[in-house]
Amino acid sequence: MAKKPRVLVTRQIPENGLAILRKHFILDINKLDKDLSYRELESRLGGVFGVVAMMANRFDGELIAKVDSLRVISNFAVGYNNIDVKAATGRGIVVTNTPGVLTEATADIAFGLLLATARRIVEGDRLVRSGKFKGWTPTLLLGHDLIGKKIGIVGAGRIGVAVARRATGFGMEILYFSHRRNDDMEGLGASFAGLDELLKSSDFISLNVPLNGETRGMIGKKQIGIMKETAILINTARGEVVDEPALISALKRKRIAGAGLDVYINEPIVNKEFLKLDNVILSPHLGSGTLETRAKMAELVALNMVAVLKGERPPAVVNPEVLK
Ligand code: GLV
Repeated sequence: MAKKPRVLVTRQIPENGLAILRKHFILDINKLDKDLSYRELESRLGGVFGVVAMMANRFDGELIAKVDSLRVISNFAVGYNNIDVKAATGRGIVVTNTPGVLTEATADIAFGLLLATARRIVEGDRLVRSGKFKGWTPTLLLGHDLIGKKIGIVGAGRIGVAVARRATGFGMEILYFSHRRNDDMEGLGASFAGLDELLKSSDFISLNVPLNGETRGMIGKKQIGIMKETAILINTARGEVVDEPALISALKRKRIAGAGLDVYINEPIVNKEFLKLDNVILSPHLGSGTLETRAKMAELVALNMVAVLKGERPPAVVNPEVLK
């Protein structure tokens, strides 16, 4: 029997995915509880057929140019902004990701942050833990209703639509901004809007766009400047979509009411200024973080990898032109 090709798994992933991979590949698994550095990644890619990559693994043109044997980068994430896809395509490397399976979990985190921010749940938790809760009062930690409010959803992909679906259940009016009209959004009663119009009139703004050349820095000083003073911004997309210093300044000045963030520009480092503010809730990039979803992601990264080995079309391929 021919020797099994090698696959580098850059972080321990759920066992169900590893079990599929083991049937076809010899696995080199990074068992440490930290990401491989760029140099470690490079040194472990020698002679490897495929890599199960995390979003912290940067596959830039320089690295891609050096890896001779690599045929697949199977990203354990839906976003693939960590990979220079053009460079990979140029070298015939298939790039795959994990769309679909994490949609609902990520929309749950967006909505969880929205509710927690609007209703000041984390501030409340801090108050109780500090021993300063002296009983119900008519004015204690008053937040904002969701019902009847406008949510502006930036991005009408799967996750944006799933956020909209949740918003209907809370009796919210929905606006969405996207390149084009989206039937699923409209089917939920959402109205198509320009970005400025959405930012001006929304009580809650949820960012659900992928990070790319168009969306990097999409929410900057000017965009924050046209939001309502009562607006709450939720970001579960990528930190780089928002100009963080501009957001920090707006939160400090109470130029907007609050923010709920799951993603940061310089992960895992979080700008210390955020830590000083009570009107922001910070979660550690938990969007897809449920047991069920991570197991589905593990299965999908494995199936993507195996499909390339078999010369089949992977279930979720980013650059299908490589397959031709
Ligand atoms: C997480 O952020 C992902 O892109 O899957």
